[in-house]
Amino acid sequence: MSYQTLLFEIRDGIAFVTVNRPDKLNALNDQVMSELGDAAERIATEAGIKGAILTGSGPKSFVAGADIGDLSRQGPFDGKARAQRGQAVLRQLETCGKPVIAAINGFALGGGCELAMACHIRIASENAKFGQPEVKLGIAPGYGGTQRLPRLVGKGIALQLILTGEMIDAQDKVVPAADLLAESEKMMRGILAMGPLAVRLAMEAVDQGTEMTLDEGLLLEANHFGLLAATDDMKEGTAAFLEKRAARFQGR
Ligand code: COA
Repeated sequence: MSYQTLLFEIRDGIAFVTVNRPDKLNALNDQVMSELGDAAERIATEAGIKGAILTGSGPKSFVAGADIGDLSRQGPFDGKARAQRGQAVLRQLETCGKPVIAAINGFALGGGCELAMACHIRIASENAKFGQPEVKLGIAPGYGGTQRLPRLVGKGIALQLILTGEMIDAQDKVVPAADLLAESEKMMRGILAMGPLAVRLAMEAVDQGTEMTLDEGLLLEANHFGLLAATDDMKEGTAAFLEKRAARFQGR
């Protein structure tokens, strides 16, 4: 698929994905969502891609939400279908098995905030602004916001954001705007130097565990711990520690 609304570049194992509609503050129309789905598939399946960094084009906005023009024309059934398609694309990204960092370079509103939350890590530039302003449009979040936000920040703050529609400033890691991509890449290179099977299973434990009871989550974690004990990566990682050298992981 050739992309009209995304920039997609692979550099030394990292896919740099940029939502590229700066004149509309990178709002997610149906075409962007379809291209993001394709990009998520590539990230998941191409061996040459070890992780991805997702950002928005221009200095002002990461993604300013679902495209309000599209929303204004929808009825109840295509509205529900749009939400389900969007949820599936974000879920595809979340479960792609490789780390995805959202480099948030401005507005992350509505679907943009939801997209950032489906990534594994968020790094914000100093001008980042987060919000779920759907209620201002008479709708509620539809791309997972009511589910991921309380899991990430707790129910109280999630409800405050969702019910008021207010924007808040950057919260997680904040860096100067000019350093955002370099900092994201530095973090990604650090992750890619870790045991890849451990990274994959840790992401899966966190992702699945939030849907489980504590006992179920602990069992999943213990199963992963046991599975990793059967890998060359664990042998290499522990040996490297004991031999006081850097580990060279093979991902097996
Ligand atoms: N959908 C469609 N178009 C959008 C958009 C969205 N979610 N967000 C911004 N745009 C468009 C604007 O309509 C405008 O287009 P135009 O130049 O053709 O008129 C352009 O992007 C620039 O936005 P503008 O509103 O002029 O910028 P601003 O700096 O004054 O305000 C925001 C920035 C983010 C506060 C404002 O654009 C906004 O509130 N956007 C909607 C956010 C939202 O509700 N998102 C959730 C949707 S579910």
